[in-house]
Amino acid sequence: MSETEETLANLLKEDRRFEPPADLAADANLKEEAYARAAADREGFWAEQAERLSWDRKWDQVLDWSNPPFAKWYVGGTLNAAYNCVDRHVEAGRGDKVALHWVGEPVDDKRSITYAELKDEVSQAANTLTELGVEAGDRVAIYMPMIPEAIVAMLACARIGAPHTVVFGGFSSDALASRLEDCQAKVVITADGGYRRGAPSALKPAVDEARAKAADLGHTVAKVLVVRRTGQDLGADGWDDAVDVWWHESVEQASTDHTPRAFDSEHPLYVMYTSGTTGKPKGILHTTGGYLTGAAYTHWAVFDLKPETDVYWCTADIGWVTGHSYIVYGPLANGATQVLYEGTPDSPERGRWWQIIEEYGVTLFYTAPTAIRSFMKQGREIPDRSDLSSLRILGSVGEPINPEAYVWYRHVIGGDRTPVVDTWWQTETGSIMISPLPGVTHGKPGSAMIPIPGVAAEVVTEEGEAVPNGSGGYLVLTEPWPSMLRTIWGDDERFKDTYWSRYEKQGFYFAGDGAKKDTDGDLWVLGRVDDVMNVSGHRLSTTEIESALVSHPKVAEAAVVGAKDEDTGQAVCAFVILRESALGDGASDEQSDIVAELRKHVRKEIGPIATPRQIMIVPELPKTRSGKIMRRLLRDVAEHREVGDVTTLADSSVMELISQGIDSGKGED
Ligand code: WTA
Repeated sequence: MSETEETLANLLKEDRRFEPPADLAADANLKEEAYARAAADREGFWAEQAERLSWDRKWDQVLDWSNPPFAKWYVGGTLNAAYNCVDRHVEAGRGDKVALHWVGEPVDDKRSITYAELKDEVSQAANTLTELGVEAGDRVAIYMPMIPEAIVAMLACARIGAPHTVVFGGFSSDALASRLEDCQAKVVITADGGYRRGAPSALKPAVDEARAKAADLGHTVAKVLVVRRTGQDLGADGWDDAVDVWWHESVEQASTDHTPRAFDSEHPLYVMYTSGTTGKPKGILHTTGGYLTGAAYTHWAVFDLKPETDVYWCTADIGWVTGHSYIVYGPLANGATQVLYEGTPDSPERGRWWQIIEEYGVTLFYTAPTAIRSFMKQGREIPDRSDLSSLRILGSVGEPINPEAYVWYRHVIGGDRTPVVDTWWQTETGSIMISPLPGVTHGKPGSAMIPIPGVAAEVVTEEGEAVPNGSGGYLVLTEPWPSMLRTIWGDDERFKDTYWSRYEKQGFYFAGDGAKKDTDGDLWVLGRVDDVMNVSGHRLSTTEIESALVSHPKVAEAAVVGAKDEDTGQAVCAFVILRESALGDGASDEQSDIVAELRKHVRKEIGPIATPRQIMIVPELPKTRSGKIMRRLLRDVAEHREVGDVTTLADSSVMELISQGIDSGKGED
């Protein structure tokens, strides 16, 4: 049985069902009728959702799909995203409502910020950015820890119409440099450092390095705006007066008066880089009106948000799309009160998250399966020490949630009262596409269930035919949606190729995921079908890591696969052929030195999340006659399975060589 078939067979055995709680159902934001209403008049439904926002000028046309795959939503409408996330709540008399309960990693380092305060800070930052020469359309990179200033920075960019690109603070200076260059960022906003696992961890030096590397690539960053978070020493060369500007000496001194300007609905809001099947990250472009509509609507519908009483917490980092849609744009557009936490779940101790839920009375909680699995391993005694009875809805995102983790989450964290919404979406989709509605749809552990009202998804064959219930295929979106990506930054061709060429005839968006419809027609997302891995809910491209390995002088060739991993979903496993000059006498301590060196190299090139769990030094790689690496066979080795069909290999003895090397323990890390 193939791996996919095995998964399918296991999933078919899942027959647990959880009905929505009666009180939640009675008072739910969206009711059953919404599905039919949206299907009958999709554009009418999306027009209704766009009314959640404040528009300076109303649109003339909901959707212009005359030039697919390039969509325009709310054509002719104008609005300001930051005004929608901040000012309008203040104008409506809710200025004293807390927007952010910020919790720093060091205990007792906390700050609650009201919407009125947020408005002042965003205005100050907008004034400073303007003073630094940023104009509408200029790109600004944000490389920051999870502090309130990160959100202020994003909103300040949106306010002046400068698309931001937030780069995850765990990425290396190389990764930052390539993004700075790709989107030609004029200004970088960063901090001296942030707290990770109880210790300050520097960020500013990586920005300096990235700025130098970008300069080598021909791109000059004009200014770097720096928040003082840790107060750590920046070193003698760590500050350049011509470029670097302290946040507290500029933003905090600036005027709190700033009039937001209305931008076209299709004005670029941000670029978020994500992994694709080639080494070069894709800059996913989102625009203003459609994106904000999608983020606000889904956050309201899927979390059944009651802004007056709910306290919401999403544990994602703002460096990922989840942080964009479900920390910044969705919740703030909806005027929610939320928790923002700087640190790691286990600092200073393993119960930190649960203490935060108790302290702030969190009602809606959104996290990732990888975190849930790690808590499961630690045992329920830890969450049991905190009072989690405030919780009413739990969400999951980033990768398929295995049924056992789902049930544990619902049972131990949710006290069996809370629905679990397993939300499927992507950087490209901008907002949640497939998920149960907590007051309407029953839950099945492991299934994302059905598309939310307004969204049209299908599981299709290679030829684009819908598969019958009980079968698997490729997940596609069959109708355009407001928060869809508009293109890949600077590369319309790649945009068309990657997402729209596979089902060009049908006009479907191809998501790159495999999925199955069960006998009820509910959807089970099975994971990526391309060469993209999912490690702890983060997308990594195999080729990107291979390129990093091959850039090391001792490496001749490299192949990377994602192997199943109990904790992280998938783990990076690399097979490496060394250059002859690096082979030495093959002594095992020499090999383990090289393995350590290579792991360090990948960490430096991309970042710690890409560090291979395992690097195997091999004499050959399995290739087809046309030279394509057969990753399927390497995955068999990495997952300790019997190696599958080798008949299409150019040289079928290769796998024996690899297996022998592995069995003798050589090169294992
Ligand atoms: C996977 C994160 C199963 C999927 C929002 C998708 C999921 C990729 C789920 C997007 C889920 C995300 N069930 N798989 N609920 N959510 N995925 O762009 O493979 O970082 O294509 O966006 O994560 O990852 P991205």
